[in-house]
Amino acid sequence: MSNDVVRKPLMSGNWKMHHNHFESIQYLQKLAYLLTKEDFAACDVSVHPPFTDIRSVQTLIDADELKVSLGAQHCHWDDKGAFTGEVSPAFLSKLNVQYVICGHSERRELFGETDADVAKKISAIQKYKMTPIVCVGETLAEREAGLTTQKVMGQVRSALDGRSSEQIESMVIAYEPIWAIGTGRTATSSDAQAVIGAIRAQVLEMSGVKAAQSVRLQYGGSVKAANIAELMAQPDIDGALVGGASLDSAEFARIVQFRLHRTP
Ligand code: PGA
Repeated sequence: MSNDVVRKPLMSGNWKMHHNHFESIQYLQKLAYLLTKEDFAACDVSVHPPFTDIRSVQTLIDADELKVSLGAQHCHWDDKGAFTGEVSPAFLSKLNVQYVICGHSERRELFGETDADVAKKISAIQKYKMTPIVCVGETLAEREAGLTTQKVMGQVRSALDGRSSEQIESMVIAYEPIWAIGTGRTATSSDAQAVIGAIRAQVLEMSGVKAAQSVRLQYGGSVKAANIAELMAQPDIDGALVGGASLDSAEFARIVQFRLHRTP
């Protein structure tokens, strides 16, 4: 598809259940030291610490006027209520959270999140003017059974269904093959491109050219500094959702600086 819209890459660090609030402060100070004005001009950067760290990280971002965006890993779809242990999107937005991951495969597989839950969360996140990073992806068994397209496109359709073009334009969708998460096995850049290109085609079909050209599509699954440049060279890959390799600030900084790496 010809492309009139320049999509700014987005590198997101999903820390999962790592780094307490002291560690996250140290991490962010180091990351801010390693990244330059040019890096932030070339690439958006979000960090997604555990909930207990968010207030501390927000305070540091504000005080030092850091260009890093604050992200969360999850939220509930209601503003408030009797939901022991859950976190409201309204509370996240009060803390200047800008990106919220939803439907991560660990939430889907370990905590029973369904496509319907994910759809409600997307609406709630957007209601508070935050950006959802919607995760989709297939298991190894599904891949081997030739069901990748069916699974991923089903998740994408459910996430997009009933939304306006404007709502879809501002979303981020992360394709994360489950077999590649935390395993050291990355999809080849051409495999990742094939699925991510198909996601963009699905957006085109459901919402038209503007949404398809604007929506940012990330790849996730064992991304590291050594493979990011090759992934980012693919036409439809607009960034990465990085787990393990984002835990080290120097490695994550090198991922953000992918444009400086020589592509093999
Ligand atoms: P990984 O995790 O980079 O450790 O594979 C990615 C993710 O779960 O978002």
